[in-house]
Amino acid sequence: MDRLLIAGGAPLRGAVRVSGAKNAALPILCAALLSAEPLRLANVPRLHDVRTMLRLLAQMGVAAAAEGAQVDLDARGLDRPLAPYELVKTMRASILVLGPLLARCGHARVSLPGGCAIGLRPVDQHVKGLEALGAEIRVEQGYIEARAGRLKGTRLVMDLVTVTGTENLMMAACLADGVTVLENAAREPEVVDLADCLNAMGARVSGAGTDVITVEGVERLHGARHSIMPDRIETGTFLAAAAATGGAVTLHGTRAGLLDAVIDKLREAGAAVEAQNGSIRLEMRGRPRSVSLRTAPFPAFPTDMQAQFMALDAIAEGTATVTETIFENRFMHALELARLGADIETAGNTAIVRGVPRLQGATVMATDLRASASLVIAGLVAQGETCIERIYHLDRGYEAIEEKLSALGAAIRRVR
Ligand code: UD1
Repeated sequence: MDRLLIAGGAPLRGAVRVSGAKNAALPILCAALLSAEPLRLANVPRLHDVRTMLRLLAQMGVAAAAEGAQVDLDARGLDRPLAPYELVKTMRASILVLGPLLARCGHARVSLPGGCAIGLRPVDQHVKGLEALGAEIRVEQGYIEARAGRLKGTRLVMDLVTVTGTENLMMAACLADGVTVLENAAREPEVVDLADCLNAMGARVSGAGTDVITVEGVERLHGARHSIMPDRIETGTFLAAAAATGGAVTLHGTRAGLLDAVIDKLREAGAAVEAQNGSIRLEMRGRPRSVSLRTAPFPAFPTDMQAQFMALDAIAEGTATVTETIFENRFMHALELARLGADIETAGNTAIVRGVPRLQGATVMATDLRASASLVIAGLVAQGETCIERIYHLDRGYEAIEEKLSALGAAIRRVR
């Protein structure tokens, strides 16, 4: 298994390009299932999760070809609306095939995602929403079996804000008969990117980015081209790493407006952050100040940036309170950070992080995607060498992370 070796201490300096967003690419790849005409995507990140999704689509009969950041999909030959456990278990986002398959084929068999390291993560809202659209759903032997004639537009109030739940229902509603109104919808920018792609395919989606999304169903969708939005979590991760190391970086191919809450917190920590046309520059002088935060759905502080800020707080001046309100078990990085010398106390969904002047390199284990990113940041500031094991989590969501960090002057290498 691969591991990362980091010799900490060097401030990050220079410029890198941010990749396309994983969490926009995954639902948009599934949108290809809705049409019998080709979909051409640009700025698709080269990530393990994207390859898994392409494999999943291919075994359903979708022709997929990837060249660099361009992916061409053609679901004309879609004939096997099945998502097997072997693929779904490694990537919860596989549930995003359910809505499109049901809408286009009238039936689907999708494995239940099961438990996940960061929490229970049920899919009841996806199921409840599809039932409201007229589907008949049973759970048998670990699989969701869904059947429907043409789905019927309806008004739906979601019990809680779910990103992939909103995306699944929005996609299903595109081919439904009549108008669907999704209330208490997720407002994440990735939902907006998906809506833009669906509209380019001939769908009639409005209100994406607000908590009420209206979808006027159409008979069929056509081919289209779409470019995936920049990854706001990758952007935030590099900014947090630069701030923690006292560096100065410019990130190209991204937009500051996608992560206002994160940039506010970086400024509170003492960083100077400037947004230019399609790029963001951050400079940090001296030791960061602690920043307390509370995760919540967009536009509030994202749960996917919580772990990285815990690493920043670990070496900051002062004490921070970090509250996680989205996932019930998302502090696993706290124990690993403690192995590097961090002083973190957790109780329920709250962590108290008392900043220490320095961390010491050690061997640590990545437990999930964003936890891995926090260990990389901690390794970059720690004295001596840090070895991060189980970095396959990192490869699921960060494109060429060690190459990008090396370009910024970090002493980081992968050993196989
Ligand atoms: C998406 C993101 C993930 C991010 C998360 C929250 C993708 C591919 N993944 O995950 O990176 O961390 O949003 O911003 O976009 N819930 C239910 N029932 C449901 C669905 C969700 O109870 O049917 C709960 C979950 O357990 C969780 C909360 O709702 O506590 C939010 O989860 P959700 O927004 O659905 O996360 P994902 O869409 O899986």
